[in-house]
Amino acid sequence: MKIFLYILLFAFIAIQFIHINKTNPKVRTDLKAPENVKKIIKESCYNCHSNETDWPWYSGVAPVSWFVAADVNDGRKRLNFSEWKIASRSKVKEIKKKIFDEINKGEMPPQRYIYLHPAAEITFNELQAIKRWAASDR
Ligand code: HEC
Repeated sequence: MKIFLYILLFAFIAIQFIHINKTNPKVRTDLKAPENVKKIIKESCYNCHSNETDWPWYSGVAPVSWFVAADVNDGRKRLNFSEWKIASRSKVKEIKKKIFDEINKGEMPPQRYIYLHPAAEITFNELQAIKRWAASDR
């Protein structure tokens, strides 16, 4: 029986050496939004959707680090507030609407993230502020 524990321990140590990509690339064009909206988005979304990720200590420990890095890399690919370089007004409108929809449906921030970061949960009042922003030209 003991041998299995040793194998497990060895495997745990071995996977710590697998390299994963945990970088913060340069911020190119940061999100432009009214101060109150920006504050909400920074608090609740930037860890996965910007180049200003605050990597938690457990993101240094495999295999948890794999899931954290996958979330950040996938999140940035779909929506990156540090690359807010948008071609047209209609495109901005579309993205803002998507942001509101995802929060409104309760899909963002992901529930697994809220467990670890309770302050990231979007309150009713915050959702109303996002809604007004999404409908505005600001
Ligand atoms: C734990 C990391 C994480 C956090 C925090 C997070 N997201 Fe996401 N987000 C993702 C991932 C991963 C995806 C892609 C997979 C999916 O849709 O679940 C995604 C997808 C999205 C999409 C869909 C993009 C598309 O092209 O379909 C939008 C919009 C979005 N997030 C907005 C937000 C907003 C707004 C917040 C903050 C309120 C937020 N997210 C917080 C990880 C995160």
